Amino acid sequence: MELINNASLKSYTTFGVEAACDHLYRIEDVEELKLAVQYLDQPLILGGGSNILPLGSIHRNVLRVELKGIQIINDSDQPLVKIAAGEIWHEVVLWAIANNLGGIENLSLIPGTVGAAPMQNIGAYGVELANVFHSLEAIEIGSGQLVTFSNEECRFGYRESVFKTELRNKFVIINVTLRLSRQHQVDISYGAIQQTLNDWHIEKPTIRDVSKAVIHIRQSKLPDPAEIGNAGSFFKNPIISSSQFQLLKQEYPYMPGYPAGDHVKVPAGWLIEQAGWKGKRIGNVGCYEKQALVLVNLGNAKGEEVWSFAQEIIESVRIKFNVQLTPEVNLWS
Ligand code: EPU
Repeated sequence: MELINNASLKSYTTFGVEAACDHLYRIEDVEELKLAVQYLDQPLILGGGSNILPLGSIHRNVLRVELKGIQIINDSDQPLVKIAAGEIWHEVVLWAIANNLGGIENLSLIPGTVGAAPMQNIGAYGVELANVFHSLEAIEIGSGQLVTFSNEECRFGYRESVFKTELRNKFVIINVTLRLSRQHQVDISYGAIQQTLNDWHIEKPTIRDVSKAVIHIRQSKLPDPAEIGNAGSFFKNPIISSSQFQLLKQEYPYMPGYPAGDHVKVPAGWLIEQAGWKGKRIGNVGCYEKQALVLVNLGNAKGEEVWSFAQEIIESVRIKFNVQLTPEVNLWS
C-alpha cells in the first residue's frame, strides 16, 4: 500500500481536471484493502477514473484499487474467468481474444478498470457487461466482510447496478467473474459494425474482426483521453414514454429512438446536437465535434467548469424538448 498525502487527482481521472485530494491510498493487496475499508472513514473508491468528475478538492480518503490477476476457473466451452478489479478492461478484452474467448469483443477499448465495469454495467455496440457477467466479490466498507454478488443480485440495468443505487459507496469490488465462450456467436447487429465489416469485405467475422471494427469506430468518433480529457458519454441516453416520443416525432420527424420495453430510448447526442451544442466551446470546456454526448477538457478545465457547461446543456435540452438529461459520470465532491 502506498499513501500519497496532498495528492493531485489530475492524472488519475481521464477527464484530467485538477483536483487536490487529502489522502490517496494505492492498494495492490486484498488484505490491505480489507483493513483500509475497516479503518478509514467513508472512503471513495477509484479505479481507472474514467467515469469520474471531481468537483473541487476532495477532503476524503480515496482508495485506488490496483489488484491484479486473471484466472480461468473451469476450462470448458464456456469457461468462467475471474479477473481482479484493478486490471485494465481493454487489456482483458485483448487477453480474451488472444485466448480465443468470445463475449466481450464488442466492449473493446472502453476505458477503465474491471472493478468499475459492473458499477455502471458498461455497454457498447449491442452488448453489455450483464450479458457475460457471472458474479463478483466485494468487500463491505466498514465491516471488511467479503460478499459474493450474483448477476441477479447486481440488479443490472441500462448503465445501472445496485452499486450505483442502494449500495452506493457501501462496497469495494475486488474481482469479477465472467462466463466467456469458445463457441463464438458474434453480435454484429449494431449498424456501424456491419457497415465497417462490409467496407472491409469480411463476411464471416471472427471475434478479433469484431474487436477491430469496434476499435475503428470508437477511434473515429470518440476522443482519446490520453490526448483530450473526457469521460466518454457524459450523459445517459434518456428513456421517455412512447406518447412523448410520438408527440416529439410530430415536431421533429427525424428524431431517432430505440424501443426500451414499453418506452423509447432517445440518443442524447442527437438532442444535444439539435440544441446547438455540438462543437461549442466555453472557456476550457467543449462539446466534442464528432460526438455531442462527450464533453471534453480542452486544457486545464476545472471540474466545476465542466459541470456548469453540462448544466447549461441539460437546461437547453429540457427547454427545447422537455426531456431531462442525467449524467452518466459520477460527480465527486
Ligand atoms: N447522434 C447525433 N449526434 C451526435 C451523436 C449521436 O445525432 O453528435 C445520434 C445519431 O442518431 C446516432 C445515435 O445518436 O445514430 C447513436 O450514436 P452512437 O452510436 O454514437 O451511440 P450513443 O447512443 O451516442 C451509446 C453509448 C456509448 C457507446 C455507443 C455505442 C450511452 C450513454 N452511450 O452512445 O457508450 O459506445 O452507444 O454502443 O449509452 C459511454 O458510455 O461512455 C459510451 C461511450
